Amino acid sequence: MSQPRLFTTRAEVTHARSDAGRVALVPTMGALHEGHRALMARARQREDVDSVWVSVFVNPLQFGPTEDFDRYPRDLDADLAVCEEEGVSAVFAPSTTEMYPLGRPMVTVRAGAMGDLLEGESRPGFFDGVLTVVTKLFAILTPDIAVFGEKDAQQLAMVRRLVADLSLPPEILGVPTRRDSDGLAISSRNVYLSTAERHTALRLSQGLRAAEAARAGGAGAVRKAAHQELDAGTSDHPPLRLDYLALVDPDTFSEVEDGYSGPAVLAVAAWVGTTRLIDNVRVTL
Ligand code: PAF
Repeated sequence: MSQPRLFTTRAEVTHARSDAGRVALVPTMGALHEGHRALMARARQREDVDSVWVSVFVNPLQFGPTEDFDRYPRDLDADLAVCEEEGVSAVFAPSTTEMYPLGRPMVTVRAGAMGDLLEGESRPGFFDGVLTVVTKLFAILTPDIAVFGEKDAQQLAMVRRLVADLSLPPEILGVPTRRDSDGLAISSRNVYLSTAERHTALRLSQGLRAAEAARAGGAGAVRKAAHQELDAGTSDHPPLRLDYLALVDPDTFSEVEDGYSGPAVLAVAAWVGTTRLIDNVRVTL
């Protein structure tokens, strides 16, 4: 494997893009892990792309004032090593000033009503920040395909909506969630968890698995099975603090009725200590 080319300025990356052929982009905030590797591997499998590119940018716009922007893990050398192993051709890792040369942007993308649900309700402005930076990355890197993880199911649905509503060119490819052997969905934020916290955090995937197993009983049974596990977690040491549990339409992220039949996403967010975790599973009811 050869080292990926590293670009930190828009001018350099635009120049390199002009003769790169068809590009699949994996947008990331760095701290690359197995989940990101799966996105890169999926991109590489596509026979209709000439190279896989990765962006590494911790986007301040998608962090609230009390969130973990400052402590978010950053290690570009380690990220470059992962990209090299995964056969990535180019990494775009701009500074904040390079991405937002005029400071906090005045003109941004508004995520709309769906952006105010679930993650958006708990993290006001989060999806505006995500969609703004994704739009900028698409403008700068002009990918033919952009690859996102299904772990961030609402983000993936919002990006699909962004591309459809604003007629943006890239094809959006979703990749299933990667899990550690104990079931925990892989996330850059897992590094914050102590051993005891990690044990509590397993309630999320266990709750989703229990819910999946109950799907023959319909939406009510799915919600109940997940709640049983997650509610039990509130007595763990340290305890689980549930933020939301919602059974939603995969395209709109609005709650489905009890008698609903069709595809749905069961999405959960919870705090363990100072770490906020999300996970989800797709169920057909
Ligand atoms: O999922 C992420 O890592 C980020 O939200 C993204 C899509 C790279 C935008 O900053």
